[in-house]
Amino acid sequence: MSEAPAGFAGRVVRWQQTHGRNTLPWQNTRDPYRVWLSEIMLQQTQVATVLDYYERFLQRFADVRALASAELDEVLGMWSGLGYYSRARNLHRCAREIVAVHGGDFPRRAEVLQTLPGIGRSTAAAIASFCFGERVAILDGNVKRVLTRVLGFDADLSVAANERSLWVHAEALLPSRGVREAMPRYTQGLMDLGATICLSRKPSCLLCPVREVCTAQRAGTPEDYPVKTRKGKRSSQSLWLLLARAKDGAVWLQKRPESGIWGGLHCLPAFDSPESLRAALANTKRAGAKLEEGEAFLHVLTHRDLHLHPVRTTCARSTFSGVDGGWFGADEWRVLGLPAPVRKLLMS
Ligand code: ADE
Repeated sequence: MSEAPAGFAGRVVRWQQTHGRNTLPWQNTRDPYRVWLSEIMLQQTQVATVLDYYERFLQRFADVRALASAELDEVLGMWSGLGYYSRARNLHRCAREIVAVHGGDFPRRAEVLQTLPGIGRSTAAAIASFCFGERVAILDGNVKRVLTRVLGFDADLSVAANERSLWVHAEALLPSRGVREAMPRYTQGLMDLGATICLSRKPSCLLCPVREVCTAQRAGTPEDYPVKTRKGKRSSQSLWLLLARAKDGAVWLQKRPESGIWGGLHCLPAFDSPESLRAALANTKRAGAKLEEGEAFLHVLTHRDLHLHPVRTTCARSTFSGVDGGWFGADEWRVLGLPAPVRKLLMS
């Protein structure tokens, strides 16, 4: 592996100024609420998708106090379709903690930000460097790719000690002059390099501002980085979803437990097998009802393939009296936090 290349930070900063992304709605602000919200939304979601959600969220919750005083259900509703709902639950908890513990002001240092719900080390560093010019390193998936290539860092990142070592290298590469002004640009520049130039497949090395100091580029092997042997196993699960409609079009929804898949969202009753779905119905006034099993479809989560089997039935509102859940008309379920595939089913 090579030494920290001279001039790396300066190259990234200068390139960001002229070739980076500079007009995204969460840029050109030092308001930590706006930056925090964007960073959480961007954790698992593409910029193009985030744009709409971000504006709508800010219109409804203009600042951290507005968010803290909202009900979780409404926050989940605004998040509906973005996926990974633990982000929305943590966002809400974090807002309440900032109001209750920090008097409504975001902590300014990454070290403190990192103690808040849903804010990991890299997100804390992004907020502190963008808003307060703190000299701290980010290291998200894209940035790991950029830095391992530049450094020729070929240790396995599945091993915690190697990941820690990469953090130390990331810190050694930080700008050391004009830090307050340089840090926001440097942080954004690394993100922009990872998103637009230093792609996992076929990176655009010819356009790269750090090509002269990049070990992998020199060796012609950028696609060999980062090295990660354990990729995390994917699993697969089948669920049968009961889509019961009342005569007036209302649907029966249950609130999911806080932990586990789709935690805290409203959902169609879900079962591990068609038999358990039938058994549950046998305990209602709907025993013996006609059930129509629709075509199964695949919904891909990060670590799991879900095979979803919709089972439709029509019934009277009195059918589920005493059962967990409730009837929701179209004007009601549309504004609830629903898993994306359930929303799709209800719309179809
Ligand atoms: N992904 C994470 N943070 C980002 C940012 N500030 N701009 C663009 N994409 C990002």
